[in-house]
Amino acid sequence: MFMRKCALFVLLISFNVFSQEKDPNLGQPATLEIIERWNIDVFPSGKGLPEGQGTVHAGKKIYKAYCLSCHGLDGTGDSADELAGAAHSLTDKPPDKIIGTYWPYATTIFDFIRRSMPLNAPGILNNNELYAVTAYLLYLNDIIDKNRIINANTLPKVQMPNRYGFIDIYQKKIMND
Ligand code: HEC
Repeated sequence: MFMRKCALFVLLISFNVFSQEKDPNLGQPATLEIIERWNIDVFPSGKGLPEGQGTVHAGKKIYKAYCLSCHGLDGTGDSADELAGAAHSLTDKPPDKIIGTYWPYATTIFDFIRRSMPLNAPGILNNNELYAVTAYLLYLNDIIDKNRIINANTLPKVQMPNRYGFIDIYQKKIMND
């Protein structure tokens, strides 16, 4: 009986200790500076694109230095996905879903590369280099010509071939802006 009372006492004490915790103690609150660093979304309208610009020519050099080892010569694929030069089309079986045939917005290319590429060192490229390599990939996919300058103003205006290939599954209609 005494042991049971003791056990109850210990239980009550420990309950009391835990109930006095103010929060779950999961870490530090994020400061505005930390949030700013993670808040890098780019929208199809161009919202979120930083300053800077790049050319196809400059992008080719960036590609060779940072991307070719995995994505192959001219983006045709190696250990990682092909980024250009689709062997067949989106309507073939199986569909060839690469950025040029499938992605609806050019701004996503910039966003994706900025947050995750090169896979072994994301974040290593500055804004000019990101714009340049985006321009090069658009060029390799025959979407822009080789003299086009890509920046926050021109990138959202680039029309991707599959821009209107997506269907709103609820409304069953082609998605517009
Ligand atoms: C170490 C290998 C590696 C390097 C270097 C690398 N990538 Fe990638 N990349 C990958 C892998 C693996 C994937 C697939 C990731 C996934 O599906 O989540 C990928 C996916 C991509 C995609 C998406 C392709 C798609 O159709 O879904 C793009 C765009 C891309 N990489 C661009 C680049 C660019 C630009 C560079 C150079 C700045 C680069 N990558 C360097 C390995 C690499």
